[in-house]
Amino acid sequence: ATTLGAAAQQSGRYFGTAVAANKLGDSTYAGILNREFDMVTAENEMKMDATEPNQGQFSYGNADRIVNQARNQGKRVRGHALAWHSQQPGWMQNMSGSALRNAMLNHVTQVATYYRGKIYAWDVVNEAFADGSGGGRRDSNLQRTGNDWIEVAFRAARAADPNAKLCYNDYNTDDWSHAKTQGVYRMVQDFKSRGVPIDCVGFQSHFNNNSPVPSNYQTTLQNFANLGVDVQITELDIEGSGSTQAQRYQTVTRACLAVSRCTGITVWGIRDSDSWRASGTPLLFDNSGNKKAAYNSTLDAL
Ligand code: XIL
Repeated sequence: ATTLGAAAQQSGRYFGTAVAANKLGDSTYAGILNREFDMVTAENEMKMDATEPNQGQFSYGNADRIVNQARNQGKRVRGHALAWHSQQPGWMQNMSGSALRNAMLNHVTQVATYYRGKIYAWDVVNEAFADGSGGGRRDSNLQRTGNDWIEVAFRAARAADPNAKLCYNDYNTDDWSHAKTQGVYRMVQDFKSRGVPIDCVGFQSHFNNNSPVPSNYQTTLQNFANLGVDVQITELDIEGSGSTQAQRYQTVTRACLAVSRCTGITVWGIRDSDSWRASGTPLLFDNSGNKKAAYNSTLDAL
């Protein structure tokens, strides 16, 4: 195969990218998107602030541009994200208690219902665990509504779109020995044991030289998969350049392919210049849209 998507399909997987609605008119960008990728995540357009800018008033224009473009091109869509402490609309940021709990649940229900049948997998909850050595939840307005906020969000999402896979998504959960990884693992284990509807765990996998791809990355993916969930690499980018970066992309790709329930990989942008990172060259295409060494090593590993 000569494209990332077609190569991933050889093993029944997908290869996706984050997409920004305001770049769809850029012909270099759209050309690479349409050629290479078979899964799409809206980089910002499906987040809470974008889809419910005023309470009870939903806004889907930019998200729809991405979803429709993807589906017209035969691509699938990962929904990102229904509930998150970050990128909340202003009206939600200062809410608390049952009013916030109900607003969050209404948001999950409304957005998942609007896109019912069009989403392969939803990041139902994003980044709910704390960094550091505790292994517990991150403090947030949502967390302060009660520890069960995550499971009620998953139940609401399942009721709204029964056929979408429902994922928990986070970063710094790649190293098996990390307390945060263990905390998420215990939550997923608990959800599975109690029948809380969860189908997948997303590993954002934003790597740099201070937090490189851990040597036990494949072990982490496999251990989560062994709980009975799919695992997905959801926001991959790797700082660096040249052969070092190429090798790291290959390591990540091989880890996914070695885990039968690792169903796909998404990179967080197309060209280096599309990256959310303030500096560096973390993606598979250079600023002009040329394939980098990291592209070739990734394609070779698929
Ligand atoms: C980032 C986007 O790429 C930026 O454009 C935006 O300004 C901030 O959010 N984890 C996530 C993503 O789950 O939603 C974030 O995306 C990157 C970190």
